[in-house]
Amino acid sequence: MTDPPPQDQSPTPGKPFLYVVVCACGVAGDVGKLIDAAHERQWNIGVVATPQALGFLDEQAIRRRTGYPIRSAWRTPSEVRPLPPADAIAVAPASFNTINKWAAGIADTLALGILCEAYGMNIPVAALPYLNSAQAAHPAYGQSLDRLRAMGVLLGSYEPHKPKSGGGAERFPWEEALDLVELQLRRGA
Ligand SMILES: Cc1cc2nc3c(=O)[nH]c(=O)nc-3n(C[C@H](O)[C@H](O)[C@H](O)COP(=O)(O)O)c2cc1C
Repeated sequence: MTDPPPQDQSPTPGKPFLYVVVCACGVAGDVGKLIDAAHERQWNIGVVATPQALGFLDEQAIRRRTGYPIRSAWRTPSEVRPLPPADAIAVAPASFNTINKWAAGIADTLALGILCEAYGMNIPVAALPYLNSAQAAHPAYGQSLDRLRAMGVLLGSYEPHKPKSGGGAERFPWEEALDLVELQLRRGA
């Protein structure tokens, strides 16, 4: 079955603003599921993609669905900020690469820069890793998750799939990202 055509959306004043950070993972092209679910839960949304993730995304469809262009590169100093400040951030899907770099404090993509600063700005962040078990077996990965948990990041429950198996897109729990950021907002309230 194909997805229904995306609805044109424009941000509604007064609603909280969610950044959806998208990494270059096999399921990235389905991020519309998270956008639609977030709209139903009364969020305005802006998508921040890693440069690698852009190749997985339909930029026009996301612009129509959110009312904003995808952000992926830093703006120039004279450009206005393309998105309002984030009330919460959902990293979905979160790649092996971005998780390890984020935990290590590396900010060489706009997405990572936003994530690295979110900790010091007390912005609630949830991340749904999507990777295979061979990636997850690398010793750095578990350490990165431990560090992110210690930073207050809530992590999704997706269990890594078998390598070269085509992934587990059908069981990727997009809405869990919203459950987790909303839990954090309630805790912080
Ligand atoms: C078709 C394709 C699918 C990929 N799927 C995944 C994935 O599901 N999870 C993952 O961690 N990496 C995946 N990768 C590898 C990442 O794209 C790669 O590590 C990239 O550097 C991640 O960049 P980013 O973290 O900046 O988004 C995939 C690569 C390709 C070409």
